[in-house]
Amino acid sequence: MSRNDPAVDPARGGLRAHLFLIGFMGAGKTTVARHLAALLGAAEIELDEEIVRECGKNIPEIFEAHEEAYFRDRESEALRSVIAREPAVISCGGGCVLREENVAAMRESGTVVLLSATAETIYERIKNQGNRPLLAGQPTREKIAAMMEERRAAYEKACDVTVSTDGKSPGQIAEEIIGMIR
Ligand code: S3P
Repeated sequence: MSRNDPAVDPARGGLRAHLFLIGFMGAGKTTVARHLAALLGAAEIELDEEIVRECGKNIPEIFEAHEEAYFRDRESEALRSVIAREPAVISCGGGCVLREENVAAMRESGTVVLLSATAETIYERIKNQGNRPLLAGQPTREKIAAMMEERRAAYEKACDVTVSTDGKSPGQIAEEIIGMIR
């Protein structure tokens, strides 16, 4: 597939290449992927769910039992496995862009969309969720801002397009993405 081919083929409907959603934890990747998949008539895949199914453990349990590198290995395997399937909307875990090989595989097989948000927005969205081991315990604004800053370059390098999600509904974001990739 050429990098210039649009991800969506209006004549056929649906997707002709994968659509990857990347971005920080709490950027809304999973929810937006659900909306996008419905609007495009495409399958939706959550990479974390694939890892959980393969490992037979949920994300906090995986991080409790293993080093982060173990999780990253499973994440790269899961990514390779979903890429081999029919074109789908694939929501990636927030750290998926940390490995060059993952970024190269995504860019070769589809369009990479970065969902961005301010640290304040992310904090508000995830402050009451306890399922992010890398933000151990109660996430703070400071911790989120520092980690976002560490990852900023990786996100920006990995993406084809960026959509700001602050103050927008998942449906609005999905419509905006479709407008950008058509
Ligand atoms: C991670 C993000 C999580 C999950 C794991 C690690 C990260 O996914 O893959 O906890 O390193 O940013 P979400 O971005 O869906 O929360």
